[in-house]
Amino acid sequence: MTKIIPVHSFRGGTGKSNTTANVATAVAAMGQRVGIIDTDIQSPGIHILFNLSPKSVQKTLNDYLWNRCTLQETSYDVTPAPVKAKKGQILLIPSSMDIAEISKILRDGYNVKRLQDGLKKVGEQLKLDYLFIDTHPGINEETLLSLSLAHTLVVMLRPDQQDFQGTAVIVDIARRLNVNRLLLVVNRVPAKFIPEQVKEQVEKTYQAKVAALLPNSEEMMELASRDLFYLRYPDHVLSQAYQAIAQQIHQPSSGEGNPLKSLFQRR
Ligand SMILES: Nc1ncnc2c1ncn2[C@@H]1O[C@H](COP(=O)(O)OP(=O)(O)OP(=O)(O)O)[C@@H](O)[C@H]1O
Ligand SMILES: [Mg+2]
Repeated sequence: MTKIIPVHSFRGGTGKSNTTANVATAVAAMGQRVGIIDTDIQSPGIHILFNLSPKSVQKTLNDYLWNRCTLQETSYDVTPAPVKAKKGQILLIPSSMDIAEISKILRDGYNVKRLQDGLKKVGEQLKLDYLFIDTHPGINEETLLSLSLAHTLVVMLRPDQQDFQGTAVIVDIARRLNVNRLLLVVNRVPAKFIPEQVKEQVEKTYQAKVAALLPNSEEMMELASRDLFYLRYPDHVLSQAYQAIAQQIHQPSSGEGNPLKSLFQRR
């Protein structure tokens, strides 16, 4: 059965799209067939990390939501060569970048039940091992839907007081929805912070496991979502942290693997 992995955060810009893309790539590189769906319909973007140009896209999630096609028809094979070499595959379901389509959704909303049906069925239809959901930040109907379907929910936050309070809301909702497994990921941790202290503080605050602390990275900022960091800088500590999250998703029993000790040493 396909495992659904929503990647969510209360506030915007926490690194959801980049983390989803890189962790999904790391999971696919373990020989898995991985789907990614961009449910951030208001401000889509993850297709950029996979170099999927809007011109080469005929059908999107929007078309499915408006009953113009099946969800299967909106998936694109974006598997990078190094992942293919490891017998993995990545299928991306993008949201439309067309301004008229985005306005239509903002103006008229959409049938959330249809999205729910699609998310439930598309994994089996595309024979996916994992379906990652790159979400819109905050709480709305679609968030609740994604959370309710989660096998493992990844919640992202930055070490910032505003993130801390908002994340408590997400964690609370996840608990009420009986989410099977919750992994917290703290992103953009400054080099001066002591990783063990941040981890302890976050775990104590939410009574949930921190899967990884991702360092704030100059290279990531320079890359500016043009490419997959995990493939561009495979030996970087940030890539090691993506790998650690991927292992906790795909091989949870293989040890924790989060290289906290080395996290801020080799950059
Ligand atoms: N570890 C990191 N170090 C430095 N920059 C980062 C890191 N992670 C993400 N970024 C940068 O932060 C910005 C926001 O990242 P991203 O688009 O992935 O966030 P998001 O949560 O998907 O945002 P949105 O809520 O708008 O969809 C990007 O410019 C990205 O390059
Ligand atoms: Mg995003």
